[in-house]
Amino acid sequence: MPQITVDGEKSFEAPEGTKLVLAIEDAGIDILHRCGGIARCTTCRVEVLSGEVSPMGDEEREALETPDMIEKFRLSCQFRVESDLTVKVWGRAGEKGMEPGSRPED
Ligand code: FES
Repeated sequence: MPQITVDGEKSFEAPEGTKLVLAIEDAGIDILHRCGGIARCTTCRVEVLSGEVSPMGDEEREALETPDMIEKFRLSCQFRVESDLTVKVWGRAGEKGMEPGSRPED
């Protein structure tokens, strides 16, 4: 099973094919997903520091908008775990003072 490391603080295993946002949340890590996983809010964005991820799709690219954002981030609701990953979570509900949002579909 792929090993996910988040912000250098926690590592856990997640079944291959799991949406990254769900793998992170199910590991007990606070992560925002305000739009419910439909590539609109970008609050679920992560920096992928290492590991293989699928190419970015058009919806994800449009949501991230700017070249800088596209270069730096991926939307964790828009790709599935395929390999060991090290990521940095951008938005935590606790830090931003928001509700996380409805749970993205599997
Ligand atoms: S873009 Fe909104 S949850 Fe991923």
